[in-house]
Amino acid sequence: MGNFKAVEIRKNIYWVGAIDWSLRNFHGYETARGSSYNAYLILDEKITLIDTVKIDFKDELLERISSVINPAQIDVIVSSHVEPDHSGALRELAALAPNAEIITTQPNGLKGLSTRYGELNYKPVKAGDKISIGARTLQFVPTPMLHWPDSMVTYCPEEKILFSNDAFGQHLAASMRFDDENNLETILYEAKKYYANILMPFGKQAQTALKALGNLEIELIATGHGVSWRSHIPKILDCYKDWSSGEVEERAVIVFDSMWHSTEIIAHTIAEAFAKKKIPAAYYDVKFTPLSDIVTDIFKSKYLAVGSPTIHNQLMPTIAQFLCYIKGLRPQNHKAFAFGSYGWSGQSIAMVEDELKAAGFEIILDKIKILNVPTKDQLDEIENKILALEV
Ligand code: FEO
Repeated sequence: MGNFKAVEIRKNIYWVGAIDWSLRNFHGYETARGSSYNAYLILDEKITLIDTVKIDFKDELLERISSVINPAQIDVIVSSHVEPDHSGALRELAALAPNAEIITTQPNGLKGLSTRYGELNYKPVKAGDKISIGARTLQFVPTPMLHWPDSMVTYCPEEKILFSNDAFGQHLAASMRFDDENNLETILYEAKKYYANILMPFGKQAQTALKALGNLEIELIATGHGVSWRSHIPKILDCYKDWSSGEVEERAVIVFDSMWHSTEIIAHTIAEAFAKKKIPAAYYDVKFTPLSDIVTDIFKSKYLAVGSPTIHNQLMPTIAQFLCYIKGLRPQNHKAFAFGSYGWSGQSIAMVEDELKAAGFEIILDKIKILNVPTKDQLDEIENKILALEV
């Protein structure tokens, strides 16, 4: 019980989601500003709910819906995406409104929901399908692999609203629901961070989706997370065009861990050398910055240098974790190299280079491998190698 009320965002269209103020980790993605799970209720001849919330927040969802109607009156539930931050309360809603049709994509949404929640009153749809809910129409646009096979968005032409689910969203807990009611720089950073950490592997699919949405007149993008877009729609669409293009900027990111400061000294030298080349360099000791923030910086930066000392014949576990994470995100068009200090065996530096290659990076400099503490001459040599890089 929290005295939760629906928020009317258009006449007879309500936000009925939940705000997760305390969330700091979303399956490994560090969410410093929390998140929200957005659901929308449309009052029309057929009362329609677009998405639900994470199961832990079902009471908040039900309370917000109940501030407007009895949940048993819901006729249609649109399930845009099987991932449980959106579908988590589906079984509970279906129990309260047993005659409600649950709209999902064919075949992947249907398969995902039925294996997760059992047999409910599903109505599968495909690209181009639409339904009338009274004065309004809902058009379904599957967006496969954006970012799950089942994903879709829903467009209401009479309202010019795109219910976009994960697309254009941000992990951001905010009391106000719209872009123009919040700090734009913060929203755009969180939208970029969301894209980098969730959607980076799916640039081609994002471009296909943007083309499909290109013909629609959109006055409101009602997102599945964070705030919705009504005043800065061209800005977020341009950002998505840019982010999905695979184009990178003349920037460098240096990521390292260090045991006794030697790898750290090399990292400093690399950062300074890039700066001398007029290429801005960001510098991350992986122990102190969450991977999701580091990846947000790498996403648009052309160059990456990764450093690890050798421990127990391996690379540092922190760097192994970082490399595993970045590999899964399949970055495009980046150039990289490995560096590190070692005491006697030094396998870690080649391991880093191998992992960078496996992650799709073009190796532009042979691995920098320094025994114990780098000398002034060695640091000068490293600087010269970076200054000599053709960019
Ligand atoms: Fe917000 Fe892919 O779930």
